[in-house]
Amino acid sequence: MTQRFAARAVSAIAFYSARRIDSLSKMARDESRLDKRLFTVNERILLHLKESGSASHTIDIPAPMTQDGIANALGILVNHVSRAAKTLQKQGFIREATARVKGEIRRRKIYLITAEGMAVANNIYGRIGETLVSVRDSRQRLRELPAGEARKLLLPPRTYTAMLAALDERNVLDVFKAKAKKKEVEAVSHIIGAPAEAPFHGRADELKKVRTWLQLKKPPVMVITGTRGIGKTVLALQAVASLEGRRPVFWFSIKPATTADRLAGVLSDFLRELGKVEFTIEEHDGIEELGKKLEASLIDLGALFAIDDLLGELEDVGDVAHALVEAAAATGNQILVTARTMPRWGRGMKGQQLLEELQLRGLDKDSCRRIAPQLDEQEFSKAYRLARGNPLEIKLLSEYADEEISGEELTAEERALMRYLKAVHESDVR
Ligand SMILES: Nc1ncnc2c1ncn2[C@@H]1O[C@H](COP(=O)(O)OP(=O)(O)O)[C@@H](O)[C@H]1O
Ligand SMILES: [Mg+2]
Repeated sequence: MTQRFAARAVSAIAFYSARRIDSLSKMARDESRLDKRLFTVNERILLHLKESGSASHTIDIPAPMTQDGIANALGILVNHVSRAAKTLQKQGFIREATARVKGEIRRRKIYLITAEGMAVANNIYGRIGETLVSVRDSRQRLRELPAGEARKLLLPPRTYTAMLAALDERNVLDVFKAKAKKKEVEAVSHIIGAPAEAPFHGRADELKKVRTWLQLKKPPVMVITGTRGIGKTVLALQAVASLEGRRPVFWFSIKPATTADRLAGVLSDFLRELGKVEFTIEEHDGIEELGKKLEASLIDLGALFAIDDLLGELEDVGDVAHALVEAAAATGNQILVTARTMPRWGRGMKGQQLLEELQLRGLDKDSCRRIAPQLDEQEFSKAYRLARGNPLEIKLLSEYADEEISGEELTAEERALMRYLKAVHESDVR
């Protein structure tokens, strides 16, 4: 430590300690029990930046250093963070930077703690370390523990920042409540508009691709493309089912009648259930406002969002979906999209390796055979060729064959009907 720096650090500590001689002496009277109110937002931000800089889980994720990340860790609103950050910047305790996070779309504004700020943070850290914390355990017993011990009872991150955020109004740390809340977040899933469970055959390679993507948690976006009826929705459902109860899951199947308000509304419900109470969508929210709100709420959620059947023609619904994709991708969540063709925004993301495309081709012959057991060998071979392994078309054809004389070859009219059905499916009319 240079002398000049040491002098500045000392004056910084003095600045922060001077205003609360009253409270400090009260603290002494109170046998040094930890009191949340003794720490300002500014101090808690410095403490948080110190702690997130050293925690190993954040090494390649500067998300905790963004405004949203700080707000989340402290349990306060983002606009309070930005106000406090301005002051801290003027005082030279933090500085602004931008960072590009692996798997994220744009560079993000982050705050870095300066050497002077670190000196203040160390002082705060030391002061907390000397206090006792009242802890209420699962059997509702209250006991006092040194702060360093109490902190270990938290779920990760076991930081003083998290501990301060978890204290109730009477400065009691309710360990059981804090854990129960976390559990709840993990189990929530909202599945809206998905088809009922149906038999699923084949697609081992494709399923493995989607599951591996879910396990690796990157890249943030996967788009399953392919013609109508090829099996995008059932494949996505099959892959997502294994996640339920382990990660927050939001599934929404878009229908021709879906409105942008409806999609935004159910998203809002989902996030409210996850405890992101500050997130409500006002009717007049523009798409930009929605994007900002989403981004602030999605941080650290680790959720999977599935947008099934993104239709090109529903532009405003597409805008909400796109806002969700951007926000979720920027905050470490994953988004699975099914669509007949790659959405416009997808091409750029693919180029930046933020998006993986899985193009679904026809289903293998054995699996198709199991979809249409009513057809005899000859009928089936013909149907398989005509439908080029499209399960929906094979289903339709087999239902059709059921009503007609089976065992005979398709007539020219029947084939024409098949082509007609095919044309209808491939068009955007439903
Ligand atoms: N691998 C499969 N095994 C069994 N049935 C399938 C399979 N793939 C698709 N199907 C059936 O084909 C129909 C169309 O599938 P769907 O997933 O809705 O297609 P898409 O979403 O691509 O339009 C559904 O009735 C579905 O149950
Ligand atoms: Mg579908």
